[in-house]
Amino acid sequence: MAILVCGGAGYIGSHTVYKLLKCNEEAVVIDNLQTGHRAALKSSVRLYEDDIRNAAALEKIFTENEIEAVIHFAANSIVGESVQKPLKYFNNNVYGMQVLLETMEKFGVDKIVFSSSAATYGEPKKIPIEETDTTAPTNPYGESKLIMERMIKWIPNLRYVSLRYFNAAGAIESGEIGESHKIETHLIPLILQVPLGKRDHITIFGDDYPTPDGTCIRDYIHVLDLADAHILALNYLRNGGKSDIFNLGNGTGFSVKEIITAAEKVVGKKIKTEIGTRRAGDPAQLIASSDKAKKILKWTPQFSDVEKIIATAWNWHKNNPEGYKDE
Ligand code: UFG
Repeated sequence: MAILVCGGAGYIGSHTVYKLLKCNEEAVVIDNLQTGHRAALKSSVRLYEDDIRNAAALEKIFTENEIEAVIHFAANSIVGESVQKPLKYFNNNVYGMQVLLETMEKFGVDKIVFSSSAATYGEPKKIPIEETDTTAPTNPYGESKLIMERMIKWIPNLRYVSLRYFNAAGAIESGEIGESHKIETHLIPLILQVPLGKRDHITIFGDDYPTPDGTCIRDYIHVLDLADAHILALNYLRNGGKSDIFNLGNGTGFSVKEIITAAEKVVGKKIKTEIGTRRAGDPAQLIASSDKAKKILKWTPQFSDVEKIIATAWNWHKNNPEGYKDE
């Protein structure tokens, strides 16, 4: 039986497919390659280049393969863009989930691991954030992920694990696959564009936040640790685990300035910075409590050192400065 990975050619999806194969699982991928890359998948992986909103395409996959469970990554995920184009997010993310759930129900597939986000919390009331804390998204992206979580909950006979990621970073250590976005908005890859000569400086979005150095604090978690959590969640559901929601983060926060200093150590060069204005919708601090995932899923992140995380990202970016060749 196979695991259907929706969005499996994307950044976190492709690292999870890599881990699934390492665990001798069979993975089938659907990806519309809007933000994913064929080159992020080994040639042995069956890729359906299609959109999850296309019910006929999904039905074909469920007919041609014996699907045991779904891991669902396929979604738009840029916070700023979601504010500009909310309906794009509700259509792709929410309606995509609707079609996927309808197809799963039709074919009697009863397990899903869902890629959710810390963006479901909005501005946190306390740090670290626990799963029981209030969810009040401050942008359409977070709202769409929260709606998707809530949709899953109502489907009879479906068991789910929703994984709320904090800031995914890094790449596989061998450098085979990594993070490659046509329009890059994430801090670590943007910082690394400076030593690569692709960017003159990194702009720090505000240094007047109520944090020790005035810049925003985030919880950076390695993409392979995220991938591991999906496999643990899948096995948890296979073993009869009850539907639940888990945070995935390192539990340690790093400010934008601290990340720049860590990147300078990794690349061995000074990185030019400029102070810019705040970016709309950025909470001052986001740090996860991942105690629940550690306790229940037995998740043990391997990359707690932020320099190590950045080093794996640097290894990918310096060898693939233009990202995947298929862009
Ligand atoms: N930042 C800069 N300069 C830049 C880019 C980012 O200062 O050029 C700052 C941001 O303001 C923020 C921090 O770096 O304070 C991290 O920004 P990212 O864009 O890398 O990540 P976000 O925290 O905004 O969002 C990420 C994911 C979301 C997810 C969220 C959860 O993109 O999908 O983490 O923590 F919801």
